[in-house]
Amino acid sequence: MRLLIALLSLATYADSLYFHIAETEKKCFIEEIPDETMVTGNYKVQLYDPNTKGYGDYPNIGMHVEVKDPEDKVILSKLYTSEGRFTFTSNTPGEHVICIYSNTTAWFNGAQLRVHLDIQAGDHAQDYAQVEEERKLDENREKSLENEDFRLKIDENRGKCSEKLIF
Ligand SMILES: *[C@@H]1O[C@H](CO)[C@@H](O)[C@H](O)[C@H]1NC(C)=O
Repeated sequence: MRLLIALLSLATYADSLYFHIAETEKKCFIEEIPDETMVTGNYKVQLYDPNTKGYGDYPNIGMHVEVKDPEDKVILSKLYTSEGRFTFTSNTPGEHVICIYSNTTAWFNGAQLRVHLDIQAGDHAQDYAQVEEERKLDENREKSLENEDFRLKIDENRGKCSEKLIF
């Protein structure tokens, strides 16, 4: 499992591993997680389309994500959209059970769903948080640059005014 997770982390999201579940099926993973570790799962669910014989996006599908800690306590239970990211932080070291199932109730006669999943724990997950943090900083930096520009323009105009006053 460790190795699998490590391999999953190496793969980019576009070609990360995927598995198939039936609409009403629940898939669980066991992941050994140290204490106080942030875990991030990037996922996307697609629906089998018999017409095209391929998997296509279907935004109306929701995904339930449920995480239980080693003491069987639910630490995450949430309905997500068909594509996105879930995050949780462990409080107790040990085996965590991560379960994923769709909110469709055989709308498509129990059609197959393809779930792309990339789980990252620890450093990589923290990197995500950091990247997000840096992105926000960049945004703020851009904003303050915009303000700077604005200020310069005002100063320029002031300069023109004072010139006019002098002449
Ligand atoms: C399933 O989840 C999606 C995404 O949250 C939501 O748009 C949809 O209404 C849900 N369907 C049902 C039957 O709850």
